[in-house]
Amino acid sequence: MIEKLIEEAFLARECAYTPYSHFRVGAALLAENGTIYRGCNIENAAYTPSNCAERTAFFKAVSEGERSFRAIAIVGGKEDEESLDYCAPCGVCRQVMREFCPDDFRIILAKSATEYQVYTLKQLLPESFGPDNLK
Ligand code: THU
Repeated sequence: MIEKLIEEAFLARECAYTPYSHFRVGAALLAENGTIYRGCNIENAAYTPSNCAERTAFFKAVSEGERSFRAIAIVGGKEDEESLDYCAPCGVCRQVMREFCPDDFRIILAKSATEYQVYTLKQLLPESFGPDNLK
């Protein structure tokens, strides 16, 4: 399943809209029921309305009624570079994951279908603020 998710992230990356940074990111989000939601980064001439690939995937999924997630695969790098480095999610995207995902949600950073690192959300966002704090 990890390799399939990475493959989907690479397909998502093909849709990245990045005329300003030329940094293309793709994400594939695996829901608890097995559905995979793809997301890409979408930039904007006014810069701040830009959206990361990970949030695109989450917002697509949540807007379709999905609330439970198992893992996300992320691939990203400059458009002119042949080989990718690992692309970790930004702080804002980690916080969006925190809203919907458990501590053991898996975050897979991939360079290729066979070269990847797996982290938990808790590892990438320790001591966090989340929905429970408002109860
Ligand atoms: N970006 C993502 O989509 N995800 C990340 O994990 C890091 C950054 C995007 C935002 C912007 O379009 C471009 O990459 C450069 O920051």
